[in-house]
Amino acid sequence: MTCFIDIKKKLPLLGVGIGLRREIAQDIFANDGKIDWLEFTPENYMGLGGMARERLEHAHSCFPLLSHGINLSIGATDDLNEDYLYSLKVLLDKFEIPWWSDHLCFTSYEGIYMHDLLPLPFSKEAVNHVVKRIKQAQNFIERPFLIENISYYMQMPMSSLTEAQFLSEVLEGADCGLLLDINNVYVNSINHSFDPYKFLDQIPLERTAQIHIAGHKKIDDYVIDTHGAAVSEPVFDLLRYVLQKTTVNAVLLERDQNFPEFEELMNELNAIQMICQANNKNFANLKEKANVSKSNIAKVPEKDFSSINVKGGRDVRALSA
Ligand SMILES: [Fe+2]
Repeated sequence: MTCFIDIKKKLPLLGVGIGLRREIAQDIFANDGKIDWLEFTPENYMGLGGMARERLEHAHSCFPLLSHGINLSIGATDDLNEDYLYSLKVLLDKFEIPWWSDHLCFTSYEGIYMHDLLPLPFSKEAVNHVVKRIKQAQNFIERPFLIENISYYMQMPMSSLTEAQFLSEVLEGADCGLLLDINNVYVNSINHSFDPYKFLDQIPLERTAQIHIAGHKKIDDYVIDTHGAAVSEPVFDLLRYVLQKTTVNAVLLERDQNFPEFEELMNELNAIQMICQANNKNFANLKEKANVSKSNIAKVPEKDFSSINVKGGRDVRALSA
């Protein structure tokens, strides 16, 4: 069976991108030669036409796209949502998405979606539960999957593992990739009093195919992951550390609110590009290789899914079995 590390080598090198948000879409489209790729939230486009669909289609005509979901709810006790997965797969196929991602959390309970990324207990039971469901979802979607580490503001009861152990066991058990949110590592390290560099040393960093970096807000003794401020210097330092330790395929500047003048975002994007080129040999060669191309991103690396036992194969209805 092909493991994710081998799949990662075949994934396209996308470069440094930004989130496709309605508020800044026109500015993004006006700067298409300076931004390498875009990330979109699939829930904002599933089954929709009109201006939203037009925006995504225009983005697809100009940029490589990646999908980053929020409602997979991989840690929930509800069955995986068949309709959601079907709609997601249609979108990923249509827009030629080379890999897809969501968060290591739960967002629903008994069919009600809470629009928040809620933490799981760091336990063996939760590892086994999530691993099984990632394999089911990945088997259905048939594209490489990355799971993202979240920011959390309380330790869930019944936790017997550290966050690093929990994340590592999920990644290895499911044999999937990591979307490493470096701002989340920093925020958690402050709020839960651990060394972020030790955390990074304790997880399988080589599984990182994509990175998120973002800004946060300090409130009293806490740090809140807001995506509404400039990236802080300690987060840039952590980015340098990761880039020196492993290759990555894509880095994203996450900005979801409190948008500044677009020039300010472009300056931040340029700073990230320079950090990537100075610290990661993949990125140093990016421009020469001209690796970001439509023909390249349409390829989906082969994966042997035959060992994953999901009744009915491609029938999404089998996911609830
Ligand atoms: Fe993130």
